[in-house]
Amino acid sequence: MSLNRFRIANAAEFDGQTVTIQGWVYNKRSSGKIKFLVARDGSGLMQCIFFRGECSDQAFEEFEKLTQESAVEITGVIRKDNRNNGFEMGVKELKIVSIAEPYPISPKDHGVEFLMENRHLWIRSQKQWAALRVRAEIIRAIGEFFDKNGFIRFDAPILTPTSCEGTSTLFSTPYFDEKAFLTQSGQLYGETGAMAFGRVYTFGPTFRAEKSATRKHLTEFWMIEPEMAFFDLKDNMQVGESLIEHIAQSVLNNRNAELKILERDLSKLEVLKGPFPRISYDEALKILEKRGHSIPWGEDFGAPHETALGEEFGKPVFVHHMPSQIKAFYFKQSDEVFGPGVTGTGKYALGCDLIAPDGYGEVIGGGQREENVETLQRRIKEHDLTEDDYKWYLDLRRFGSVPHSGFGLGLERTVAWMTGVPHVRETIPYPRLMNTLRP
Ligand code: 4AD
Ligand code: MG
Repeated sequence: MSLNRFRIANAAEFDGQTVTIQGWVYNKRSSGKIKFLVARDGSGLMQCIFFRGECSDQAFEEFEKLTQESAVEITGVIRKDNRNNGFEMGVKELKIVSIAEPYPISPKDHGVEFLMENRHLWIRSQKQWAALRVRAEIIRAIGEFFDKNGFIRFDAPILTPTSCEGTSTLFSTPYFDEKAFLTQSGQLYGETGAMAFGRVYTFGPTFRAEKSATRKHLTEFWMIEPEMAFFDLKDNMQVGESLIEHIAQSVLNNRNAELKILERDLSKLEVLKGPFPRISYDEALKILEKRGHSIPWGEDFGAPHETALGEEFGKPVFVHHMPSQIKAFYFKQSDEVFGPGVTGTGKYALGCDLIAPDGYGEVIGGGQREENVETLQRRIKEHDLTEDDYKWYLDLRRFGSVPHSGFGLGLERTVAWMTGVPHVRETIPYPRLMNTLRP
């Protein structure tokens, strides 16, 4: 009776039975001989009806002492009720576990700053609760997807000696007598895993000291990074597309009630079925020009460009073959779109970013990796990195080098997209932003 005790989410299994809700007072109201309490037990909400004569006199009296978020154990009979999520409780007994002090978060509108300071309480509110439950489902679905497709989870270190995504966004920390960095990406380690296991994915927190206060940037975010041996750029996009399809279907199937709380337009998830359009960076520039958002060749997209591309397709779109000059050192390059890889000066990087519609922006960033040792050594130099730091990474190109690819999926951006919440700060229990370190 410890793990399989009654929980509101499973009320249907207890129809007609007397059970105990262990939870908190979400709200209450009374009218004469009938009193209503909405209980919250973490798994859901349930209306509990205190009817004089049906419940104990003590329960009827003690009801009056209850404040919002007081902790309670309420015993009664579960019965069908078509208005309130299918089931309600006819109360018999009430036990007060603790009376809550006046609760700072009331149903009235609070400013975001206040809510962020009270994040530890805010997560009890319906929309926050729902978004975090969608997050948990997405994590579950991702594990399921990779398990089903022969990947193993391969955890990359968080304390690292090198950078993966450029040196300008590194958080550093003393590490005994040397300096360590908080990882920006598990990719380089993921590549070692791909050569050992064929298909792996890393999943963990990643860190970027990004001074961008936007609705898409956190300084600590979780990334899922699959890496596959013998996969090229096209194969890589196929994996990303299938993963997004699986995530959207899982959220639709398993988090319907939460999507309703979040008032999510379900059609936005229903359209997330492949094939997603795939366009080259050069084609993207033409579309942007047509839509009045021209940028010179060689520049990276900003938020307005990503939004415009989303509007063009109304579906997620892969942009591939970006200018090498804006991509990291590890990308394989080519002189033409879907041309052969070259060891000379490649104009394009074999990258692929997936841009989500409705302004959610880049959710996937990845591509095919350089597999030639000399080219990679040259790239490391060009990026002002120290070859010695990447000796082990270069070894992958010395001992059985193969074409390989992978990508990183940003968890919080994916949760924001699926739930429709406008800002990534509501998609992680405790967001870390440029000016947010507490609670
Ligand atoms: O495009 P990024 O920088 O790619 C990499 O880190 C590669 N090493 C991944 C790989 O190929 N294994 O980041 C990947 C994704 C982005 O598309 C975005 O979804 C997310 O990570 N991301 C962020 N999410 C929230 N806040 C930030 N500051 C983010 N930076 C990147
Ligand atoms: Mg990127």
